[in-house]
Amino acid sequence: MKVLVTGGLGFIGSHTVVALQEKGYDVVIIDNLSNSVISVLDGITRITGIRPEFEAIDLRDKPVVIDFFDRHKDIGGIIHFAASKAVNESVHKPLLYYENNIGTLVYLLQQMQEKGIENFIFSSSCTVYGEPDSLPITESAPVKPAFSPYGNTKQIGEEIIRDTSKAYPEFKSIALRYFNPIGAHPSGHIGELPLGVPQNLVPFVTQTAAGIREVLSVFGDDYPTPDGTAIRDYIHVVDLAESHVVALERLFDNKQKSNFEIFNIGTGRGSSVMEIIKTFEKVNGVKLNYKIVGRREGDVTAVWADTSLAEKELGWKARLTMEDALRDAWHWQQKISAKKNV
Ligand code: UD1
Repeated sequence: MKVLVTGGLGFIGSHTVVALQEKGYDVVIIDNLSNSVISVLDGITRITGIRPEFEAIDLRDKPVVIDFFDRHKDIGGIIHFAASKAVNESVHKPLLYYENNIGTLVYLLQQMQEKGIENFIFSSSCTVYGEPDSLPITESAPVKPAFSPYGNTKQIGEEIIRDTSKAYPEFKSIALRYFNPIGAHPSGHIGELPLGVPQNLVPFVTQTAAGIREVLSVFGDDYPTPDGTAIRDYIHVVDLAESHVVALERLFDNKQKSNFEIFNIGTGRGSSVMEIIKTFEKVNGVKLNYKIVGRREGDVTAVWADTSLAEKELGWKARLTMEDALRDAWHWQQKISAKKNV
């Protein structure tokens, strides 16, 4: 069975390609290299011993997308990661985000229709919940008005898929609402490669520890949480990657309760920014230079997942700890820093 992974050279995509190959699937990757590098293919190959098929395609180019599907008649399922994800950038370039994240989704779904491909996994985000009314968050919690065009593309994406599944009962799909993915493959061959100054916490932490950034800013210590810093559900990217394989197999095995399902993918445990800093220092034996600054606009206080639906229906549960993730993230950072110094 061949699986198409769009955005398969990205952070979550590349780990999912590894998980698919380890389960015996053939993988073809599409990636436009806008936020990834071609050498990720080498990293994947080093881990699994198999070099996945790869095409440098931009999904915004409709004729090219059609041509791709004309040439690949053996695709049984699609995992769709390709999207832009910088919250702040999306506020300044909303149309780019709607084109990249929505236009391309429509092209893909049209091709699935036309070519009779029935199985689809969509990357969604816990950002759809906004500031939740209660914790932990279940999938039935209300979707709140999005803070940013990026967040809106995830909500609209889910709606497009919902409408498509209503119109075409043979179309089967699952949206996975990720909480905060962190870490790297324990081999150190693949990991996160942020372009420019990292916006997310853990890449900023590892770059600060590596001396690339002078000081980590902690955005706010006056939140109504035990230590005053904001709380998130940080999930190891290897666990997150595995959830995609399990979800895809649910589609292949016709185990769905309805032809569009949504699952939270987190650990079920919330950690504060200070806990991340302290744990990073402890497991890696390094000191982090940090300072407390004001809150970041748009940030919510606390978010963590109720993962019981994924456990019950997918039989999936995160296995790795925050300690594992922070150790692997540091291992990866040291490897890429060493390469740059050669
Ligand atoms: C962010 C996005 C979310 C998106 C996800 C993608 C926002 C508001 N949310 O999640 O929509 O799906 O990235 O990965 O941007 N922090 C610091 N210092 C830093 C960086 C972060 O203190 O230098 C804090 C933040 O305030 C937050 C926590 O660390 O409390 C996690 O931040 P981050 O990694 O950016 O993830 P989210 O904001 O949760």
